[in-house]
Amino acid sequence: MASFLHIGSALLLGAALVNGQTSATTATTTSLAPAQQTVSADSDSGVPLNTAETVQLTTEVLQNLTSQLNQTTVSYFDFGNATAATKRSTTGCKVFPGDWAWPIDFIWDIFDLLLGGRLIKTVPSASSCYPGWGDQSAAECAYVASVWNDSHFHMEDPTSVMWPLYQGRTCLPTGSNVTATCTLGGYPSYAVNVSNVAQIQLAVNFARNLNIRLVVKNTGHDFSGKSAGAGALSIWTHHLKSLRYIPSYSDSTYSGPAVKMGAGIQAQEVYEFAHANGITVIGGEGKTVGVAGGYILGGGHSPLGSIYGLAADQVLALEVVLPDGTFTTVTAATNPDLFWALRGGGGSTFGIVTSLVVKAYPKIGVTVGSITFGTSNVISADTFFEALKTYYSYFDAFTAAGTYVYFWVFPLGNGQYIFETHPFFAVNHTVDQFNTLIQPFVDDLSALGISVTPSGTYYDDFYDAWLAGFPLETVGSTTMLTGSRLFPRENFNNATLLNVTIAAHRQTLEQGYPILAFQMKADAPAGSVPNAANPAFRTMLMHGITSISWPATASSAEILSAMNTMTNDVLGPWRAVSPNSGAYMSESDLLEPNFQQAFYGSNYARLYSLKQKYDPCGVLYAPTAVGSEDWTVSSADGLPDQNGRLCHV
Ligand SMILES: Cc1cc2nc3c(=O)[nH]c(=O)nc-3n(C[C@H](O)[C@H](O)[C@H](O)COP(=O)(O)OP(=O)(O)OC[C@H]3O[C@@H](n4cnc5c(N)ncnc54)[C@H](O)[C@@H]3O)c2cc1C
Ligand SMILES: *[C@@H]1O[C@H](CO)[C@@H](O)[C@H](O)[C@H]1NC(C)=O
Ligand SMILES: *[C@@H]1O[C@H](CO)[C@@H](O)[C@H](O)[C@H]1NC(C)=O
Ligand SMILES: *[C@@H]1O[C@H](CO)[C@@H](O)[C@H](O)[C@H]1NC(C)=O
Ligand SMILES: *[C@@H]1O[C@H](CO)[C@@H](O)[C@H](O)[C@H]1NC(C)=O
Ligand SMILES: *[C@@H]1O[C@H](CO)[C@@H](O)[C@H](O)[C@H]1NC(C)=O
Ligand SMILES: *[C@@H]1O[C@H](CO)[C@@H](O)[C@H](O)[C@H]1NC(C)=O
Ligand SMILES: *[C@@H]1O[C@H](CO)[C@@H](O)[C@H](O)[C@H]1NC(C)=O
Ligand SMILES: *[C@@H]1O[C@H](CO)[C@@H](O)[C@H](O)[C@H]1NC(C)=O
Ligand SMILES: *[C@@H]1O[C@H](CO)[C@@H](O)[C@H](O)[C@H]1NC(C)=O
Repeated sequence: MASFLHIGSALLLGAALVNGQTSATTATTTSLAPAQQTVSADSDSGVPLNTAETVQLTTEVLQNLTSQLNQTTVSYFDFGNATAATKRSTTGCKVFPGDWAWPIDFIWDIFDLLLGGRLIKTVPSASSCYPGWGDQSAAECAYVASVWNDSHFHMEDPTSVMWPLYQGRTCLPTGSNVTATCTLGGYPSYAVNVSNVAQIQLAVNFARNLNIRLVVKNTGHDFSGKSAGAGALSIWTHHLKSLRYIPSYSDSTYSGPAVKMGAGIQAQEVYEFAHANGITVIGGEGKTVGVAGGYILGGGHSPLGSIYGLAADQVLALEVVLPDGTFTTVTAATNPDLFWALRGGGGSTFGIVTSLVVKAYPKIGVTVGSITFGTSNVISADTFFEALKTYYSYFDAFTAAGTYVYFWVFPLGNGQYIFETHPFFAVNHTVDQFNTLIQPFVDDLSALGISVTPSGTYYDDFYDAWLAGFPLETVGSTTMLTGSRLFPRENFNNATLLNVTIAAHRQTLEQGYPILAFQMKADAPAGSVPNAANPAFRTMLMHGITSISWPATASSAEILSAMNTMTNDVLGPWRAVSPNSGAYMSESDLLEPNFQQAFYGSNYARLYSLKQKYDPCGVLYAPTAVGSEDWTVSSADGLPDQNGRLCHV
C-alpha cells in the first residue's frame, strides 16, 4: 500500500492531534519507521544470511516502539505462543472481516507503516472485468482473459491462484455465468509483499496475536488451494529472490558444492543460475513452480530424481520464521526435528522458510527423447494395452538407468487410444545410449506389430535439455481437477500385480479419463539424513495423475458430484491395486480419504506431534497439511474451497 504509507502517517498524526486521549501515538513524531533492525549475517549453517534475512524484528525494536505506540498496540506485534489469541474468538474460529475483533482500519494502517508500506489490500486479479472495484476496463479485462492460462500472470499477483476452483470461482475474467460476481471469495483480505524477515515476523505475530487466519503464497501453483484463504492475511514470498553459489559447503553430512536460494526462487531462475555456474540443481519440470517454496517442502519430484532422489533430499539448511515469530536456522545439527519435518512434511505447517541451502551437482548431459504409439486400423485396443503393459514392465530398468518420463495416455473415443512421451528424459545418456536402453522395448513393441521410431536429441547440460523438453503448462481452469497415486515397484515387477495394474488403468481410460504420469523413482540418496517425505515416494516407479472435467455452466452440486466421482470411482481402483502406497500431496486429490496415511504415511504421528510443539495455536493452516484435520472451512458454496471462515473443529 504505497499510498497507505501517506494515509497512515496522516492518520497517526491526526489521531495524535485530534483524538489525543485514545491515540495510538504517544510521541510527537508524525510517522512510524519500519519495525526492523539489521543484525549480523552469521548463521549456524555456516552460510551467511542474505540481505533480506539480516533485517529482522527484535525485542529491541518492539521495546523502542513503546515510545510511539501504546502497550496494547505494541503487543499485537510481540513474539510468543499466544493462547491469549483464542480469547478474541468465542466461536473457536479465526477472526473474520466484520467480526468485532477484526482490526479497525487504523490498526491496519499502523501495521502497514511498521511493514514499510508493504501491505496490500486485496483487489481480485480480474477486477477490471467487473464494476465495484474502481478499475473496470474492457481492454484490461480482455488482457487478463488472454493471460489467465499463463502461470506468470498469477504468480505476479499478490493473491491470485492458478486453480480458481479453490478460491470459490469468484471474479473470473470471462464473466462466466457460474459466478458473474467479483467478490474477495477465497482470496485473503490482505497480503504482505515481503522483502525481509522483519516483515514476515510482523505478519506472523500480528496474525497469531489477533487470531487472524494466516496464508503463505509463493507462486500460487498449489493444486488444492493451499495458498488461498478467505479473511486471511497472506505472506507473499515471491520477491525473495536471492541466489548464491557456495563452491564448497561442508557439515557433518555433506561436503561439496551448494546453492542458497531465497524462498521466492522458481525453477527457471535456479536452472539459469546453475547453468551459468556450470553446476546442476534439483528442481521440478514446471517452469514457474516455486522450487524453494511449496515444491521442496512437500517433497518435490524432479527430472533428475531417478538419479538424485527428491528435491527435499537435497536440503542442507533452512532459515525459518517459526509460528512464534522467532527466526531460526534449521540444520541437521541445530534442530534435527524441524530439519526432518520441513524436508517433505509440507508447506505452511511448521514455519515460513525464507531461504534454503541445497546440494549442487556437476553438469550432466541428457537426451530428450520421444516415443509415441496408438491404436489404428491394424492395432487394436487389446494390443495397445499389451504395449502399454510392456512399457510398464521396463519401469524398473528405465528408472535404474536414471531416466524420467512424463507420459500421456489419452482415450480418443470409440476405443481409440494414444501413448506419447513429453518427453523421455534420458539423463546421463547420449543418443546412442538412449537407443541402446530402449531397444528391447522397441523390439517388444515390434513383436506386437507396433513399429515405433524413437527420436532423441542430446544436450550437454540439464538446463538446455529441460528447456527443450518441458514447455510451459497451462493453468487457470475452473472446469477440471486432478487426482493421483504413487504406484510402487512391485506393481510393475510382479506379473500378477502388473496385470492388475494395467487392468485398473485400462478401466480409467475406458471410462474416458486421461492418464498423465511420471515414470521415475525417488529412492533416498545413499548417506542422506532421513526426512519427512512421504515414504511412498521411496518405493514408487510411477506417479500417475488423472483428471475429471465438467461443463463451464456446471452448478456447485454438479462439481461436487464430479469431485466424488474422482475420489471414489476413478481413484478407488488405483488405490485398490496399490493399497500400501500413497499419493503426492502437492499433485493430488484434495478429498483423498485418510489423507494422513496417503500423503504422509508412517511419518504422520511424528509430524503431528511436532506440529503441536511448534505451532500450538494453529497459526499456520492449509488444506490437507499436517494438523489440518483440526480445522474446517465453512465454504459459501458447499464445495471444499477456501471462500469461508476457518474454524476449529
Ligand atoms: C504447472 C505445474 C507444474 C508442476 N510441476 C511439478 C514438478 O515438476 N514436480 C513437482 O514435484 N511438483 C510440481 N508441481 C506441483 C508443485 O510442486 C506444487 O503446486 C507446489 O505446492 C508449488 O509450490 P509453490 O510454492 O510454487 O506454490 P504455492 O501455491 O504458492 O504454495 C504451495 C504451498 O506451499 C506453502 N509455501 C510456499 N512457500 C512457502 C514458504 N516459503 N514457507 C512455508 N510454506 C510455503 C504455501 O503456503 C502452500 O501451502 C507442479 C504444479 C503445477 C501447477
Ligand atoms: C492504544 O491504541 C489503540 C490504537 O490507536 C487504541 O485503539 C487504544 O484505545 C489504545 N489503548 C489505550 C489503553 O490507550
Ligand atoms: C532503540 O532506541 C535507542 C535509543 O533511541 C537507539 O539507540 C537504538 O538504536 C534503537 N534501536 C533500534 C533497533 O531501533
Ligand atoms: C514457544 O514455545 C516453544 C516450544 O515450547 C519455545 O521453545 C519457544 O521459546 C516459545 N516461544 C516464545 C517466543 O516464547
Ligand atoms: C449460462 O450459460 C449457459 C450456456 O451458455 C446457458 O444455458 C444458461 O442459461 C446461462 N445461465 C445464465 C444464468 O445466464
Ligand atoms: C512487491 O515488491 C517488489 C520489490 O520487492 C516490487 O518490485 C513489486 O512491484 C511489488 N509488488 C506489488 C504488487 O506491490
Ligand atoms: C553417468 O554414466 C556414467 C557411465 O556412462 C557413470 O559412470 C556415471 O556415474 C553416471 N553419472 C551419474 C551422475 O549417474
Ligand atoms: C483458461 O482460462 C479460462 C478462463 O479464462 C478457463 O475457463 C479455461 O478452463 C482455462 N483453460 C485451460 C486449458 O486451463
Ligand atoms: C505377486 O503378487 C501377488 C499378489 O499380491 C502375490 O500373491 C505373489 O506372492 C507375488 N509374487 C511374488 C513373486 O512376489
Ligand atoms: C497376465 O495377463 C496375461 C494376459 O494379458 C496372461 O496371459 C498372463 O497369464 C497373466 N499373468 C499372470 C501372472 O496373471
